[in-house]
This record gives sequence, C-alpha cells and structure tokens, in this order.
Amino acid sequence: MAGPVPELDDRAAACARRLREADRVLLASHIDADGLTSAAVAASALERAEIPFETVFEKQLDAEAIAQIAATEYDTVLFTDFGSGQLDVITDHEDAGDFTPVIADHHQPADAETAYHLNPLLFGIDGASELSGAGASYVLARALENGSSNRDLAALAVVGAVGDMQASGGELHGANERIVQEGIEAGVLETATDLTLYGKQTRPLPKLLEYATDVHIPGISNDAGGALRFLDGLDLELKRDGEWRRWADLTREEKQIVASALVQRAVSKGVPASKIDDLVGTAYVLSEEPIGTELRDASEFSTLLNATARYERADVGLGVCLGNREGALERARKLLRDHRRNLSEGIDLVTEEGVTREEHLQWFHAGDRIRETIVGIVAGMAVGNDGVDRNRPIVAFANKNDEEVKVSARGTYSLVENGLDLSVVMGEASRSVGGDGGGHDVAAGATVPKGKEEAFVERADAIVGDQLS
Ligand code: C5P
Ligand code: C5P
Ligand code: ZN
Repeated sequence: MAGPVPELDDRAAACARRLREADRVLLASHIDADGLTSAAVAASALERAEIPFETVFEKQLDAEAIAQIAATEYDTVLFTDFGSGQLDVITDHEDAGDFTPVIADHHQPADAETAYHLNPLLFGIDGASELSGAGASYVLARALENGSSNRDLAALAVVGAVGDMQASGGELHGANERIVQEGIEAGVLETATDLTLYGKQTRPLPKLLEYATDVHIPGISNDAGGALRFLDGLDLELKRDGEWRRWADLTREEKQIVASALVQRAVSKGVPASKIDDLVGTAYVLSEEPIGTELRDASEFSTLLNATARYERADVGLGVCLGNREGALERARKLLRDHRRNLSEGIDLVTEEGVTREEHLQWFHAGDRIRETIVGIVAGMAVGNDGVDRNRPIVAFANKNDEEVKVSARGTYSLVENGLDLSVVMGEASRSVGGDGGGHDVAAGATVPKGKEEAFVERADAIVGDQLS
C-alpha cells in the first residue's frame, strides 16, 4: 500500500481552513456516481463542521455553468469531481472577485493555479487509478473533522472510486487502498476475495451467471438455460421459500463450490488463463448496509447512482447517499431498471451496427439513439465485444442538442502504458474544431459542434498515432 502523502493532507488542511472561514458555501458537483458520492462526502463534512451550504449539480462544468455559479451570492464555491479541467476559467472569476474556489478533483488540470486546489495529480498520485473525486473529497472531509473523524465517509469514497472504474485488475490501489483501510477500521467496509461478477447482492443466482459477460464462459454467459443447468449440476440448495437465492445468501462453502465449478468450466471450454483471473477480485462490501441490497456492494451502489444523476435526478442519488432509504431508494430502483435497459439497448446497437476503424482508433455515432450522458459507459462496456477491438481506443458520439455533439473516449491501461493519453486527445482534437474537452488518460470526453465529427476523428486519430508511436 502506498504511504501517506503529507503534501496532499497539507493542501486539504488549507482548503478546510478556507471553508471554515466562509459564511456559507456553494457545493457544485458532477452528475455521475463519483460526482454524487463526492457531493455526499463533502455535504456530510460541511454539515458536521456546521458550515452552511447549498448543493448544485452540473452535467458539465463549462464556461457558461461557471458564469452562472459566479452570478450567485456565494463567495466561496467548493467544486468536487470537476473544476481542475476548467481551472483557467475558474481563476478568471477568482481574479475578478466573483468567488473563492476550493476544488477537490482528480481530472487533468488546465494551465492555471489557485491556492485551494486539492488534486492527486499535483502530488504524484494518479487521478485515473489511485484517487477519485470522492477520494479527494474524503481527504478534504478528514481535514474538516469536527468531533467526528469523518472516517465513516470512506465507504462513499470507495463507491466513487469503484464507479469511476478505478478498481482495475480487480482491486483498488494506492491512495484508494488507504481509504479502504480506514473504512475497515471505522467499521463501514469489509473486503473479500470474491467473484467479480456484477450483481452479487441483488441478482438471483442464474441471472448472476447468465448476465456475467465480461468474461465469456461458453454455455453459461448469455445462456439462460445453460446457466440453470450448470447450477442444477452442483447439488446446492438453489431456492429457499420458492425464491432463487442470491450470491450474498450463500455460505462460504457454497460460494466455494460455485466458484470452483465456474473456473473449471471456463478452463474446460478453453477460456484463456488471463481471462479466468479476471473472474476473481476484491469485493468492497458496505458492511452497515442490509444484505441483498444494491447499497451493500460498491459496484452495484455506483450503478444505482449513475441511474439517477445521469437522468437528471441527482437529488435522488444524493438522497440515497445521505441515508434516505425510503422515498429516494425506491425511486432510484425504478430509475435503475430504465438505466439497465438503456445500457443493454445501447450495447446491442453498437454490436449490430459495428464501429468504424481508423488507423489508430475506432468510433461510432449513436445520434439520438443513446443518451449523451451514458454513451461513455456504453462505449466502455462494448470494448471486447464482437467487432470491437481491445487494442485501439474507442470514440463514441451522441447528439447533445441541435448544435452540439457529445464525445466519449475509452482506452485500456495497456494502451496508456504505451503512451495513450485520451485527455490530451479529447482536449486538442475538440479545440481544433471549436469544441472543448478533457478528462483522464484512460477515459475522457468532449463537446464538439455538430457537423465537425469527421474533422474531429481525423485529428484525434493523428494524435493517438503520435502518442502510440
Ligand atoms: O468525471 P469522472 O472522473 O468521474 O469520470 C470518470 C469516467 O471514466 C467514468 O465514466 C469511468 O467509468 C471512466 N473510466 C473508465 N475506465 C477507466 C477509468 C475511468 O471507463 N479505467
Ligand atoms: O462523459 P464521459 O463519461 O465520457 O467522461 C469521461 C471523463 O472525461 C470524465 O472524467 C469526464 O469528467 C471527463 N470530461 C471532461 N470534459 C468533457 C467531457 C468529459 O473532462 N467535456
Ligand atoms: Zn470522478
């Protein structure tokens, strides 16, 4: 595990001091799982420190959104899970005396600096894989402690990191790992070596296996009858009181039986060893949440949150994070059903229509058929499916409005090791056609004017080519 980073904590302490001086704070955050958990962590810490605040969410923190924030009465603005990429615009407002920014973010910073900027990338920590927006907010929360140590907020920080796909290779690393440790010590988290399949808390066993397609196991993945026959052959009690049991209901021994049989099946069907390794990883369990709910599993929790904020219901997701387990949770579950259907239809679309291959990247244009707020998730999930190459980045377009198109790009860590930096690709290529963008090396996004897609692809392809040469 990486050691403590005193400079990061010093910066957090400076940010906390500045927040304590404020009469009231405007908390602005991003509309995804990491953004919601960032806001929840920050909101809890502000509340406990008795600093009055109000929360707003933005789909994208562009110049217009920042100008709207500047027009409010607040003279202190806490940005979480965004802000670094727009630091140039933000500091212009700061210089004009509009507000003092405090930023807890993990995106590639724009070329500017400010005093209260808490970003792992400034301190040698990787913002794509070692600390998320929620993690940065947690570091700030720790510094804001007031009676409570705020270590219980580590659980939400881990949900944010998992939601941002930072558990690469099946587990969290670096600064994230320290947060996990603190969560365990605070009694809010447990870790276990477990199957990496999605839905261990909520899916009936056959569905858990049938829908697990990240590692394709012939005769089980995408095969309802096959998954049932596989389970039937294991001599387990599969139902209780007429209801399918879920993975979370199984005893350790029962889990062991299913896991070994699954690995055996994969081996016998010739699934490559590296893929079989992907079947097992670290599960992050929120130990205070009820067994068999989305909230108990960091991965399911983060999907539930994406199902709210990416559909203009950030209030619902924030409510769930802050402990509203009646109204908000019920509404979130309804939204989750729609979100799942949208993802599956999106992936079908990509699989049926395929992607266009350029020399160094591949792309598709969903037009109005995939919501711009989830096109990046779909692009990431499509990688590795039939016809989608693992060895080149994927770029996805979806219409945003009559004038603008959203672009999302996803790569792999092995491409990043070879020089890929999608935040540079998205930033430079979008600006070359009159748009703007940024993000992380492995995942980034942009907005471009409608009609400029072709020019954008050409420019992006050339930049990727340069990076990988
Ligand atoms: O804005 P933010 O940093 O929260 O979003 C990060 C995005 O990058 C998420 O949508 C996450 O799923 C994606 N990502 C990815 N693969 C990675 C790292 C991040 O798709 N390895
Ligand atoms: O929207 P999408 O999921 O593709 O975003 C991937 C990453 O790129 C996120 O971290 C997001 O915050 C970032 N991004 C950005 N500027 C944009 C669009 C996305 O920094 N204009
Ligand atoms: Zn984030």
